[in-house]
Amino acid sequence: MPGRVSLSLALTALLLANLVGLLAWSQAGRPAHAIPPHAIHAFDSSQMAMVSAGALQRYTHTLRNESGGPQTYNLSVASNQDWTVTVLPTTLALGSGQSAEVVVELSVPGDAPPGRMAVSTLTARTVPPSPPPLTVKDTALVQSSSSLKVPEALPGELIDGQRTYSLTMQRSSTEFWPGLQTPTSGYNGSFLGPTLVMTYGEAVALHVTNQLAEQTTTHWHGLHLPAVMDGGPHQLIEPGETWRPYFTLLDRASTMWYHPHPHAHEGGNTSGTGTQVYRGLAGMILVRDEASNALGLPQRYGLDEFPLIVQDRNFNPDGSFQTLEEQGGGLRKGDHFLINGTLAGILQVPAQMVRFHLLNGSNARIYNLGLGNDQPFYQIGADGGLLNEPFERTRLHLGPGERAEIVVDLAAMEGQTIHVVSYNDELQSTYVPNPIADDFDRANFILFTLDVTAQTADPITSLPATLNDVARLDSSQAGMRRTLTLTIPPSINNTTFDMEVVNITTTLGTLEIWSMVNLSEEAHPIHIHDAQFQILSRNGVPPEAHEMGWKDTVLVKTGERVDVIKSFHDFADPDAPFMYHCHILEHEDSGMMGQYITVRHYQLYLPLLLR
Ligand code: C2O
Ligand code: CU
Ligand code: CU
Repeated sequence: MPGRVSLSLALTALLLANLVGLLAWSQAGRPAHAIPPHAIHAFDSSQMAMVSAGALQRYTHTLRNESGGPQTYNLSVASNQDWTVTVLPTTLALGSGQSAEVVVELSVPGDAPPGRMAVSTLTARTVPPSPPPLTVKDTALVQSSSSLKVPEALPGELIDGQRTYSLTMQRSSTEFWPGLQTPTSGYNGSFLGPTLVMTYGEAVALHVTNQLAEQTTTHWHGLHLPAVMDGGPHQLIEPGETWRPYFTLLDRASTMWYHPHPHAHEGGNTSGTGTQVYRGLAGMILVRDEASNALGLPQRYGLDEFPLIVQDRNFNPDGSFQTLEEQGGGLRKGDHFLINGTLAGILQVPAQMVRFHLLNGSNARIYNLGLGNDQPFYQIGADGGLLNEPFERTRLHLGPGERAEIVVDLAAMEGQTIHVVSYNDELQSTYVPNPIADDFDRANFILFTLDVTAQTADPITSLPATLNDVARLDSSQAGMRRTLTLTIPPSINNTTFDMEVVNITTTLGTLEIWSMVNLSEEAHPIHIHDAQFQILSRNGVPPEAHEMGWKDTVLVKTGERVDVIKSFHDFADPDAPFMYHCHILEHEDSGMMGQYITVRHYQLYLPLLLR
């Protein structure tokens, strides 16, 4: 029916024209009838490449004049690395609707070290200039031959019926760049820590020794346990001391993690959570249970199952990490990417189903993960456990503190290399607004490489259709409803964190709905300690299936209201609070955090009666 096709085309065109008008209006800040004819033009998206030292890298872009009249553009390009980069042509005249190719050439120096990341920013300005200019950021990652590190799995030792893990927090140094030592910290090593493998139902004991020169804590992010065992800012470990928390593991199969959580305050001796995590203190916890063990998922750690801790860092020329001051304050967002502490690593994976436990362990960066060949993968788990069914997708974004489990089918890929990529060019400004966006919030870039090798014996080649039986918490049973407003400068309900102030009191055995309302110009990953919660809605709309699982950290975008439902059960303690906070660690450290206690009914009402 050609008639109908052209009608719907015309309608689409009309709609588009309206949208274009709206966009131009909001950009130029003037009424729609006064749009300059050159307001709209398009580049295609950010390109990325793995390059070798000494190579010439070429990126080809199409610039299209989508305005109503002819345009002339001046083109320029700059590299963040002082590497030579050129664009041809440098002037371009295009009629309305015309497009032309633009070629950017980057000369990679012969001595560019493996793992170096370069961004070339191509800018097109109209003549005469009508801001904003068009930009596109292409990235180049200098290839490395380093194998991607896989943290050692620590199964713990059974001592007196308790599964016991020993962790020592220590200062050390790590070689990320050939010949350069970076001062770092780690658990039982120089950077990051071992993967603690735990089992649902077991009695767990941990010995955490502080060999740093300052106070610290270690928090079991995501685990449901008594507040005094949680490792928040109140469970300080003094230098030289050992902290010995213990608890029964009540969480089902999931991907949790651990990291320091001290709050720098008057009279204290600590640099704070952001600084300690940035230096390298973090590790993963894999919780196993019988039900998930029986699913036949890839579960041979280091063979067909891998943790991936994604972090960004800024380096000084001497190899040291930049301090917050050296980065100019604000947020710690880096221009180099460490996966399990490896720059541009290569991970050998067999040609079959392979499972990854993803953790965004960065202080402040949001990632939009995907495969370089755009191959779909299956998300099988969220923060606190397996989803009910595998969810097929090509992109997965993670805010700081969030985790996801994915399975990639590599059966047909033997002998191939596949890049794992962050497609941040696709993230919109509700995640990171233009004023605070850096190169990597607006570019696509390679994180590391999968090198697909031969199949193992007994490979997993399919996924079960059903993974879990998570029931939805019933919102009609919720007792309290609370609102957390998120604003910048970093605060929650216009209040900043005070060690001495309990902000919220909840009652044991009840359900509550917390609405997080983001009134600021950036996204905040909001984390609530203790039991996992469920996302009820985003702006009133129930979440997609991949957000129906257990969560403890949720990204709340600009202008968004996210309702979560959470149960307060098992542990009441009027004297020990749990934290809730933004997991952008610079926000948390500057006070975007509160504390809640959970009490029994009589603990809530008795003090009132006794007055
Ligand atoms: Cu991962 Cu309160 O922290
Ligand atoms: Cu936590
Ligand atoms: Cu925040």
